[in-house]
Amino acid sequence: MKKVAILTNGGDAPGLNAVIRAIVKTAENNGIECYGFIEGYKGLLNNDYVRLDSAGNASGILNRGGTIIGSSNNTNVFNLKTVNENGEVEYKDFSDKCVQNLKDDGFECLFTLGGDGTQKSSRDFSRKGVNCIGIPKTIDNDVAATDITFGYNTAVSVATEALDRLHTTAEAHHRVMVLEVMGRYAGWIALESAIAGGADCALLPEIPYDINKVVEKINQRKARGKNFSVIVVSEGAREKDGELSVKRTLDEGKGLDNVRLGGAGEKLAGQLEEITGLSARTTVLGYVQRGGTPSAYDRVLSTKYGVKAMELAMEGIFNVLVSYKHGEMTYVSLDDVVGKDTAVGAASSKNRTVPMDDPLIDTARRIGICLGD
Ligand code: F6P
Repeated sequence: MKKVAILTNGGDAPGLNAVIRAIVKTAENNGIECYGFIEGYKGLLNNDYVRLDSAGNASGILNRGGTIIGSSNNTNVFNLKTVNENGEVEYKDFSDKCVQNLKDDGFECLFTLGGDGTQKSSRDFSRKGVNCIGIPKTIDNDVAATDITFGYNTAVSVATEALDRLHTTAEAHHRVMVLEVMGRYAGWIALESAIAGGADCALLPEIPYDINKVVEKINQRKARGKNFSVIVVSEGAREKDGELSVKRTLDEGKGLDNVRLGGAGEKLAGQLEEITGLSARTTVLGYVQRGGTPSAYDRVLSTKYGVKAMELAMEGIFNVLVSYKHGEMTYVSLDDVVGKDTAVGAASSKNRTVPMDDPLIDTARRIGICLGD
């Protein structure tokens, strides 16, 4: 093996640069050249890439947030939204051009750093004969077939720090503090940060909540002399028989996540203020969860992911996702990650939401965190 390429695609997550660095270092130690496509699949389509060099552009990046090669989250090259000369929208498949770009320039392996959408395209490219190796990135921790994605631990740490800070101001003013966290349709960030940050309630997309249960918890605390409460709500949480809180719906193309969530925290705070008579405030944590420096845990996890990915490439094991299972680095078929029967160009049909028998659910319940049910 002489020449490999990396792309980072989808919403950024802390640890992307640490993975890049680990791949580049392992590659160089084995005499392999490493390149990075600019802005994810967009770079692959435009054949826009740079050489990555551990003594140059890939140096000093272990602790850097974002990605040195950029990312895009609206480029599904299998079903790309284009506008023709008459101003009409047309969906086109540019994947053959991408495959040709890789062939022409002699890339023997493509590392795809991304979440479920990215891995879906990676699977589709693997069916066209490209040697793909996926690495699971996302703060949401919702990629199937791995126990943890890189970036998640940092997001949980940021949310935990926010909860610590909200606690003191909640107590000072006898308020209900609602923290809205990211995670899309998975409640991992909300659940784990609620445990780490000592929240009183954690409302997850997986458990549509009963507002009366949340009120009950706040009132129980009041009865014990605690005139304040701290609640974490996932952006994808909704009331029983209620609707998702959608901030806006985009039209960026097929096979992409066009729904931007937002508003769950505001809605909940409004209801709680009205019912409990306590004043309630909302903090929407937003993009600080995924910007900035990765935690020590994510730096190590990302490095392990990068090293394992390059090792798999050298062993000739392709069309897999590097996966972290039961404390060990291993790999699983990309089909198992995105759904074997999911059509080319369509969105992934698998998502790793919080299962009700996850030990974190039991832990939360046993220490009295109200999950809204
Ligand atoms: O998937 C990562 C994530 O940050 C989600 O938690 C969030 O819902 C979404 O991306 C936001 O997407 P965008 O960057 O397009 O606003």
